[in-house]
Order: sequence, then C-alpha cells, then structure tokens
Amino acid sequence: MPLNMQPLSDKFSVAITNVDLSKNVDQNLFDEIVDVFVKKQVLVFRDQHIEPQHQVAFSRRFGPLEMLYDEDQRVPGFPEIAILSNEKVDGKFIGVVAAGDFWHSDQSYRRETSLATFLYAHKLPKHGGDTEFADMHGAYESLPDDIKKRIEGRMGIHQRSKLGNPRVAVTREGGEEYYERRATKNVTHPIVRTHPVSGRKGLYVSPRFTVGIQDMDDAEAQPLLDTLFAYQTAPGNTYRHKWTLGDFVMWDNRSVNHQACGGYAMDDIRLLHRTSTQGDQPF
Ligand code: SIN
Repeated sequence: MPLNMQPLSDKFSVAITNVDLSKNVDQNLFDEIVDVFVKKQVLVFRDQHIEPQHQVAFSRRFGPLEMLYDEDQRVPGFPEIAILSNEKVDGKFIGVVAAGDFWHSDQSYRRETSLATFLYAHKLPKHGGDTEFADMHGAYESLPDDIKKRIEGRMGIHQRSKLGNPRVAVTREGGEEYYERRATKNVTHPIVRTHPVSGRKGLYVSPRFTVGIQDMDDAEAQPLLDTLFAYQTAPGNTYRHKWTLGDFVMWDNRSVNHQACGGYAMDDIRLLHRTSTQGDQPF
C-alpha cells in the first residue's frame, strides 16, 4: 500500500494519513515506513487512537526500548512509556514537566545513543506546547567548505548535566541537586556523523549536550560550536510541529535535533506518552 504523504517542510518531515498504527502493520508496510523514516527523518501519523500497548508494540520494532526517567514518571504497567506532562494529581506531577527544553538529540551523552523517539498526545494545551525539529543533514550540507574542513575528523564532547553548560538554564524545581546526581562521564562522538542506513553525513552536536570539542581550546571550540548551532536552526533547516490530538510523531535521532517549545500555562494541561529505542554508537 503506497503511503499517503504530505510534506511538512521543504526538505524533511512528512505527515502520513493512511496508516492506523493500532492495527497490525504488516512487514511490507513496516519496511515502507522505515524507508520514509530514514529519508524524511520526522514522521507525523495523523488521526491515531493509540493505547499504551500499541505504542510499545510499534516502537519496539525499531529496536530495544529505553527505560527512561523515574518509575513514578512512567505509565503504570508500561515502564517503557514515560509521561511528559504538567498535570498534577494530589498535588504531585504525574510525569516529567520540562523534558527536552533545549535543542538536542536524545541520549547523545551516552556511548550508544537513541535511534527513534515516539510521542503521542493525550492532552494538549490551548496555547503553546509545540515541538520543533532541525534537519542535521541539511545543516551539514549548508556549511561552507572551510567550516566542513575545520570539523572533519573532530569529536564533540557530550555531557548530560546542565550544570557547567552556559548555553542552557536549569528550569526544574530542585534542578541543581537533580543534575548533580545525574552528571555523566563525558562521552565523545564525531561532530560529523554518518547515518548508518543512508550513508548521508549530518551534524551531531547540540547546545543541550555538547559542551566542547576534543583536543581544541575553548577559545576556538566554543565560537565554532556557536557557528554550527546557528547553521542547525537556520531558516530552511527546521520544522515546528503544532500538535493536534491524534498525532503520533516519531523522529530519527541520528539525523534530527529537536526541542520542546513550552509556552503553555501550568494549568493548561499537556500530556504526551513518550517511547524511544536504543541505537548504536555514532561513527
Ligand atoms: C522530548 O524532547 O522528548 C520532548 C519533546 C516535547 O515534549 O515536545
């Protein structure tokens, strides 16, 4: 069955309107979805009715599911699904409140990084709550040759903690202590990542997690990173998703950066279910 697709931006991201992910997705259809996923990087499946078991079953076909966040921030009975929400029950937040609030690629601070991430909207605020995506192939391809030469073979340094990263702010309550507990050992990845399926090159750095460049003084590395970040979000390289109930959104962390745009009031409830799959070590 050919996929019914509409482009959401000039170069990447498409909406798919003739697939029901709550039904059995046979292998031929799944192969088509994977092909478009690698080529278009962000897929928005419209008009879905996804129960937790559907989200887990579909996500799992892309690889081992990651178990992220604390146990009380996950869907009861489905530890692979994290709840992203500003909703409170009995005075306590039911999920993660400020997930993904700066540009990043998921889990880039680990040696083996995330492959696909999946979000399904259960409640949406009246205002705000968009998710924005940036095309890392497009960003790399738009670099002038001299910058491509400067980053060739270079490794970016990635760190989970927000403490000590001047490009990001600690927004969550008790954030200082939270990030002290969650600091990771620095990990390095190539600044220019090769997509393992398509072979296309893309930038693999982000303001949220990339804090330096290996074997380069900060005096040179930090302005160079700022230049790369500016190319990543230049006009033509981004798509801003305005959510509609029924949207099931997935993206390829090997070729896309993303951020949660916020902008909704604390009593204007947003509730998304999030799954992600483990990928490989970037090369
Ligand atoms: C994320 O970064 O996983 C969350 C994005 C969002 O909530 O829009």
